[in-house]
Amino acid sequence: MRLGFFGDVVGRSGREGLAEHLPGLRRVLGLEFVVVNAENAAAGFGITEATANELFAAGADCLTLGNHAWDQKEALTYIVREPRLVRPLNYPALADPPGRGAQMFETELGKRVLVINLLGRISMDSLDDPFSAVDRALHDAPLGAVVDAVIVDLHAEVTSEKMAMGHFCDGRASLVVGTHTHVPTADAQILPGGTAYQTDAGACADYDSVIGNDKEEPLRRFTTRISGGRFKPAEGPASVCGVYVETDPASGLARRIEPIRIGGRLKETVPEVGTVTA
Ligand SMILES: [Fe+2]
Ligand SMILES: [Fe+2]
Repeated sequence: MRLGFFGDVVGRSGREGLAEHLPGLRRVLGLEFVVVNAENAAAGFGITEATANELFAAGADCLTLGNHAWDQKEALTYIVREPRLVRPLNYPALADPPGRGAQMFETELGKRVLVINLLGRISMDSLDDPFSAVDRALHDAPLGAVVDAVIVDLHAEVTSEKMAMGHFCDGRASLVVGTHTHVPTADAQILPGGTAYQTDAGACADYDSVIGNDKEEPLRRFTTRISGGRFKPAEGPASVCGVYVETDPASGLARRIEPIRIGGRLKETVPEVGTVTA
């Protein structure tokens, strides 16, 4: 199966970039299932129904979230009636968060795909342990038996926590990929147990920016330590960043992972793929 995962969509630039490039990528790469991290889709902060619908129309099958999940309050009710929206799994039980942190999908070809969204705990608001949370979810849906593919999005700040999660899930997930730092890392690989891994997918954002935000306010804060207003997304053309993964139809493990970068300022790379067969 051919999967696509795209990192944090930042504001209008990211949404328009995805709308411009995702339909072609789906066609050229033969993507059967596409996950997009959408925690910054609504003006850089959270998700609304209208912005989610733009991403679904562009070709996303599932939207994951992160630390900005609830920045737009309508997300708290929207997620209850939109099963394609997946929030972090590891909120404390007492938070009783709406929606789902792990969601099963069925592709048009009848394949079952489990998507899990997790929040890291290092240099982030500390939630429950993401390792215990993912362990339970993976135990309930064995790859190659109950599900055809498992995609884990670990939304986290530090590289070590993301690499550790990759190894923890190795052999039990098709893909473990990081989000949140908005910068694509150059470590796409298949781990020894067969799980595709990249520390950060990168963002769908204008890279003439500070992680997708207009440069002025971040520079003011870094140089003067005085806030001059809200962060707002940079508005130039987006680089759409993510990964392409091919899985083995029997085991659900990865046979190939390649970075994708298209549009905007970053050097482009789109994998060469053959005709779709499975
Ligand atoms: Fe983000
Ligand atoms: Fe984030």
